[in-house]
Amino acid sequence: MTNILCIGAGYVGGSTIPIVASHCPQHRFIIVDINEERIAAWQSDDLPIYEPGLDEVVRRTRDKNLFFSTDVNRHIAEADIIFVSVNTPTKTFGRGAGKAADLQYWEKTARQISENSSFSKIVVEKSTLPVRTAEAMERILNSNGSGLHFDVLSNPEFLAEGTAVRDMENPDRVLIGGRETDSGRKAVETLVELYANWVPRERIITANLWSSELSKLVANAFLAQRISSINAISALCEKTEADVSEVAYAIGLDNRIGKYFLRASVGFGGSCFKKDILNLVYLCEHYGLPEVASYWEQVVAMNEFQEMRFASKMVASMFNTVAGKKIALFGAAFKANTNDTRESPALEVCRALLEERAEVIITDPHALENARDDLGELAARVVFEPDPYAAAKGAHAIALLTEWNQFAELDYEQIYGSMIKPAFLFDGRNLLDHSKLYELGFNVYPIGKPALTHLHAK
Ligand SMILES: NC(=O)c1ccc[n+]([C@@H]2O[C@H](COP(=O)([O-])OP(=O)(O)OC[C@H]3O[C@@H](n4cnc5c(N)ncnc54)[C@H](O)[C@@H]3O)[C@@H](O)[C@H]2O)c1
Repeated sequence: MTNILCIGAGYVGGSTIPIVASHCPQHRFIIVDINEERIAAWQSDDLPIYEPGLDEVVRRTRDKNLFFSTDVNRHIAEADIIFVSVNTPTKTFGRGAGKAADLQYWEKTARQISENSSFSKIVVEKSTLPVRTAEAMERILNSNGSGLHFDVLSNPEFLAEGTAVRDMENPDRVLIGGRETDSGRKAVETLVELYANWVPRERIITANLWSSELSKLVANAFLAQRISSINAISALCEKTEADVSEVAYAIGLDNRIGKYFLRASVGFGGSCFKKDILNLVYLCEHYGLPEVASYWEQVVAMNEFQEMRFASKMVASMFNTVAGKKIALFGAAFKANTNDTRESPALEVCRALLEERAEVIITDPHALENARDDLGELAARVVFEPDPYAAAKGAHAIALLTEWNQFAELDYEQIYGSMIKPAFLFDGRNLLDHSKLYELGFNVYPIGKPALTHLHAK
């Protein structure tokens, strides 16, 4: 039996380790966090994150070979392998503020590991980190004065929230980076063996530490770049009566381009894309590559443009004022099937509408609590309503901002009947049947397609 510890019980630690535990009943897994409330929630029936299929895996493994605890030091002492999945947000102070990664939680963890260890261990970076962080970690860990040796591996997490269980059960690839020394190679092999309990060997790839660390930043940058690219084209489509879905389909059939991640929308969100790209931008600046830095920075700038363009279009379409108008936002989560609202475009649109003095009401099947927290002081000016029918009642407009299936299945005839006329619907995800909504009487504004409006006809 190997004692495997994960430090950080957030979206990553909490949605990956239970699946590893379910495939490795021969090992003992502990997930620790300094946040007592979070650990208590992981021990309850009401898990702190919503992720389809996760409840079932946690129920199956918890208190068998998976345990949750706040006693970080004790479990560090017992562990053979330590995954670290603490948060690495964008720095908000000092050098690199607004771009560089804030590594204070990571460094604190490394020191804690060093102080509480009495035998050598493998330490695995699961958090997303700037390239060459492992070098600093090795220095901190191996300067403990006790002669212990720590091997630092990079094993970035590629799961997508909303499909985390499926992604972890059946990953496209698992990437493990390590030092090309005897001990480094041995550590890599130990981690390969762990994943090989359920992942086919050919999908477990190994690389040098720096390639592995950098690959995670680059994967997110490329994914976000595709969204910004198609969103840029959506703006042009709206000026030219081209249809962005038709353009995306036509170009996506070219194998060199591929069809994935070409769906135009109000913008990308989530805790990672913006943060990781800015981190990449900072690294490029640091290494004296300003052209490369500004190339990638545009991906974030385009996303901000798209969010603001959407909010501006709402105001412009509604006769240039939304002050005092009730607007129902369908969706708060940054995408469907998660309760995560970090960097959600829905909340950006919400902030912009509040600025214009609209009365905003938000509905979402799982993310209202997080939306309230993320909006901070502004939450007092927003109504949070779990029932979409109640949210839309008496509203001048609906803005669909998260692609929850539930929103596609609503009775829009009933909704139209309960709204103020003319009724507006802004579909920030191109999720709904626009012609049908138009026939019901809505003025419909999709992304990257001609608006369907009754207003000009009269
Ligand atoms: N969310 C994602 O989809 C995703 C995907 C891939 C990679 N990542 C990366 O994984 C890392 C974690 O992301 P997340 O979304 O799980 O973050 P999160 O904020 O949800 O969770 C991090 C947890 O670490 C805990 N923590 C911080 N310092 C600690 C310490 N010293 N000891 C114990 N616990 C501590 C926090 O209390 C928090 O619960 C980040 O680097 C992120 O970039 C995230």
